[in-house]
Amino acid sequence: MTDLRARLGEAVGVAFGVLGLDPALGRVTGSDRPDLADFQCNGALAAAKALQRNPREIANAVAQCLGSDPMIASVEIAGPGFINFRVSAAVLNTRATELAADLRAGAGRTATPRRVLIDYAGPNVAKEMHVGHLRASIIGEAIKRLYRFRGDEVLGDAHFGDWGFQMGLLIVACADADPTIAALLERLSQRPDGFAAADERLIDTQLSSSIALDDLDRLYPPAAAKAKIDPDFRDRARRATAQLQAGRFGYRLIWSHFARITRAALERDFHALGVDFDLWRGESDVDPLIEPMVAELVATGLLIDDQGAKIIRVARDDDRRDVPPLLVVSSEGSAMYGTTDLATILDRKRFFDPQLVLYVVDQRQADHFETVFRAAYLAGYAAPGSLEHIGFGTMNGADGKPFKTREGGVLKLRDLIDMARKKALERLEEAGLGKEFSPEAFELTALQVAVAALKFADLINFRGTSYVFDLDKFSSFEGKTGPYLLYQAVRMKSLLRRAAVEGVAAGDMLVDAAPERDLVLLLDAFDHALTEAYDKCAPNLIADYAYRLAQTFAKFYAACPVLAAPDAPTRASRLALTTIALKQLELALDVLGIATPDRM
Ligand code: ARG
Repeated sequence: MTDLRARLGEAVGVAFGVLGLDPALGRVTGSDRPDLADFQCNGALAAAKALQRNPREIANAVAQCLGSDPMIASVEIAGPGFINFRVSAAVLNTRATELAADLRAGAGRTATPRRVLIDYAGPNVAKEMHVGHLRASIIGEAIKRLYRFRGDEVLGDAHFGDWGFQMGLLIVACADADPTIAALLERLSQRPDGFAAADERLIDTQLSSSIALDDLDRLYPPAAAKAKIDPDFRDRARRATAQLQAGRFGYRLIWSHFARITRAALERDFHALGVDFDLWRGESDVDPLIEPMVAELVATGLLIDDQGAKIIRVARDDDRRDVPPLLVVSSEGSAMYGTTDLATILDRKRFFDPQLVLYVVDQRQADHFETVFRAAYLAGYAAPGSLEHIGFGTMNGADGKPFKTREGGVLKLRDLIDMARKKALERLEEAGLGKEFSPEAFELTALQVAVAALKFADLINFRGTSYVFDLDKFSSFEGKTGPYLLYQAVRMKSLLRRAAVEGVAAGDMLVDAAPERDLVLLLDAFDHALTEAYDKCAPNLIADYAYRLAQTFAKFYAACPVLAAPDAPTRASRLALTTIALKQLELALDVLGIATPDRM
């Protein structure tokens, strides 16, 4: 199923060809002046430049050639040589009929599906999630859904940060805070003889009753601060990290407790945000791969000694800036952030052999990924170019700095969702919405509105752009916001429900009035928006399309009554248009990771 722009472009290309010109010049785009035309072609200007001829003459000749195409209602030459087209009502009707019959409402699929792994969110044990994690999870989820919708085989992996220095830090902090824990860790430095599963469960129960998530939240920040100023403490934490990684028994037990309680809470919070991972693999999962990997890299000569540490040099002669080496083994013998990243690349190659791996991570980690990717290519763990860092700007506070809470701390995901949900409740009440809801349904709708507000506000920006967190603005039912889109979708749904009650069915297309034409022209462009978003890895183009769709529909609805249309055929046609609009809006929102309620 091709869209009108492509069909028209093909016809115009043929006309250029007939004139002995390159058919590629026939490329057609939506019109810059919708008041004057539906589509335009600027090819005559390019041709004229190359041939040193008058562009209007070329444009006229092309128009002549196209003369009798039934698709075209009118051709006009404008300005220096733009060719402006209006398409016929017949072709709009045919196109709308096609879209209505298509389960995907015109959305195509990629011709060459790939295996893609998306590494996103990257939350950590203990270390608080910051706005970078929030953006990563929103953008990563949208890219995952977009790729999948286009037909790629996609796995999303949370890449849980459960193996770094923060683990040793927490172990030491817990031991210092609680003498019984310290004693336990001491007693279990090695797995006691005959230690069985039942004993393990017993220890686990003990740990569960003495260390909860709140304790980790409370202990971690001061421990991290102390490590910065107290070298003894830092050394103890480093040693604990190395011993954990070397398999010290008690440390493993307490570590798995940390990881378990953190993961449970994170998964719940992410789920509330409509972010769900296919894989929840931890940095620790690749630990067994590290020793053989290091041995192999030493054997191939890639990994070299450097002042007691082991590194891979990745700098190239033509580098215009300093690209530091990858630190693989620290002087304490610990695996580093980049080590687990490298081993993870190897691991992913083995279990999924992805053709593309996207790392949706804060722009501030660009240098890290550059180094890791180079090392992976050198080691032959990934095909050159198959690893890509999808960086993004920050979500800022009113002060222009990365968003912090009023107390100056980093915002927890749970608190952010809560804040947005409260705001959504207020907004729904203000607007007099959801009156007939049960309290539970009202709460659920508020959550959906909140998630739409947060996600849409993020995704409407090109990911590289930073934006300012403004919950009032994000939650408004007016303007370029998630709640506005949900509201429009809900209006469409309720219109369709009323039609069903009144026994009005969708019927043949009779596109006529200007707002109807505008709507069909936009509906026609759905696939183009998706394709561009897919090719450029830019979900903002879908957010933008969804917004234009909601707006165009609102104009149509205001000007062209549906159920109160003057006659039955018009009613049936407008209802059919509404059905396509809703389908596309829901698909677009779904790709963005935004669920649409049935009522509001
Ligand atoms: N856990 C890391 C952080 O909080 C992000 C992980 C990103 N993914 C990766 N493969 N390194 O900064």
